[in-house]
Amino acid sequence: MAAEESTGKSSIAAVFNRAAAVYDQVGVDFFGPAGLRLVELAALAPGESVLDVGCGRGASLVPAAAAVGADGSVVGIDLAPAMIDKVNAKIAEGGLRHARAEIGDAESPNYSDDSFDAIIAGFVIFFLSDPVVAVAKYSRLLRPGGRLVMTVRLSDRREDTEIPRIVNDALLPYENEARPAPKRPRDPLGTRDGVEEVLANNGFTGVRVVDETYQARFDDPAHYWRWMWSHGARERLEKISADRLGPAREAVISALSKFARDKQLIYPIPARFVVAERA
Ligand SMILES: C[S@@+](CC[C@H](N)C(=O)[O-])C[C@H]1O[C@@H](n2cnc3c(N)ncnc32)[C@H](O)[C@@H]1O
Repeated sequence: MAAEESTGKSSIAAVFNRAAAVYDQVGVDFFGPAGLRLVELAALAPGESVLDVGCGRGASLVPAAAAVGADGSVVGIDLAPAMIDKVNAKIAEGGLRHARAEIGDAESPNYSDDSFDAIIAGFVIFFLSDPVVAVAKYSRLLRPGGRLVMTVRLSDRREDTEIPRIVNDALLPYENEARPAPKRPRDPLGTRDGVEEVLANNGFTGVRVVDETYQARFDDPAHYWRWMWSHGARERLEKISADRLGPAREAVISALSKFARDKQLIYPIPARFVVAERA
């Protein structure tokens, strides 16, 4: 593994490790409903074996365990130990003896070929330095006819909302120019054509792209700020120096206040699900 890649991975893992306590816990319905939808699209049957890569706190792992039942099996992997602790606590609480979560890299899951009936990957593939290598690996891990279901970036779909642009504009003046956000390479799965090409080149067939929108509700603009700390957006906020963080928060809240209705915000978040079958 190249040093740069390892640094990128460990910094992403560290961000999610710090986010784990509040990830999907701040009263915003997004990762939960999207995780359920991912499982629904995987059309899991009782007795099947499932790998959930980048399982986080189990938004899709727990419903997948319910779908395959005690005769099936679900293993979740994540790079952030605190996420693994949270999901294993949930597994124990639910008595889901056929499910487990362990530390593992979504780019190179360490299991035997032909081990799984389904692989699910919710909001993780765009963190990987080489998603194409990951897709090739998933193809080998799946049995013939096995399904891959993942959420991918949507570079070719216009956002239905101004909120990300408003927040971006408000944050820019507070970011440390000496440490600009790392430029991520072009995402080969970021367009519908790209997804279809990558999957076809790696032994998948029957590719379906399903675009949906989730109406995330926020009590007020401060609630939106708290939500940013609870997921990947935290990486950007953590790069703002301590003395600028308070003013940055005020700037985001003030900009969003002009957009709020009776204090509330509704952010229609677009999500793209991709479903494919291993030939
Ligand atoms: C946005 S969260 C999604 C979590 C979960 N799938 C969900 O839908 O709520 C992204 C997760 O991917 C994990 N992650 C990022 N890069 C990873 C990698 N290379 N291998 C495994 N997990 C990774 C993070 O630690 C984090 O838990």
